[in-house]
Amino acid sequence: MTERTFIAIKPDAVQRGLIGKIISRIEEKGYKIIALKMLEVTQEQAAAHYAEHYGKPFYPNLVKFITSAPIVAMVIEGDNAILGMRQIMGKTNPANAEVGTIRGDFSPEMSFNVIHGSDGPESADREIAIYFKEEEMCTSWKTAFEILKEKMN
Ligand code: RTP
Ligand code: MG
Repeated sequence: MTERTFIAIKPDAVQRGLIGKIISRIEEKGYKIIALKMLEVTQEQAAAHYAEHYGKPFYPNLVKFITSAPIVAMVIEGDNAILGMRQIMGKTNPANAEVGTIRGDFSPEMSFNVIHGSDGPESADREIAIYFKEEEMCTSWKTAFEILKEKMN
């Protein structure tokens, strides 16, 4: 099933010059980037994004971190893209993430885990709406992968 998921390249990865490498992995997989922008997360956006973690011990640092430098926000579309992106990202704690995943390859620790991805369809819809308007989705084009698939129908 075609899904949309919200992906953010976090401030650590932006500052470390990893934007291109991370976007390449998403493109190489064959997912479609339908929206993309660099932005400084506001306190309001951070509170909305991390509402599920409000009150947890790591919450203040999470908000401080995500607002500390720009992120690159994206909406990614593809077959089974929500779980697929979580697999490409690797486990939350990069120390336990498999080599070959983004977190496994680019970070040694939890507080600087490089990338965010929605963990289910509801959080995807909710998170996309925090950062994007529907008009910002670029949907009237086809990836090479979509063209390939169409040929076989
Ligand atoms: P994300 O939301 O960033 O994609 O990560 P996730 O689903 O894999 O992990 P989640 O449980 O949603 O946690 C959000 C972010 O909070 C930080 N965290 N720190 N110190 C801790 O125990 C702890 N737990 C979570 C991580 O940066 C995680 O990505
Ligand atoms: Mg999460």
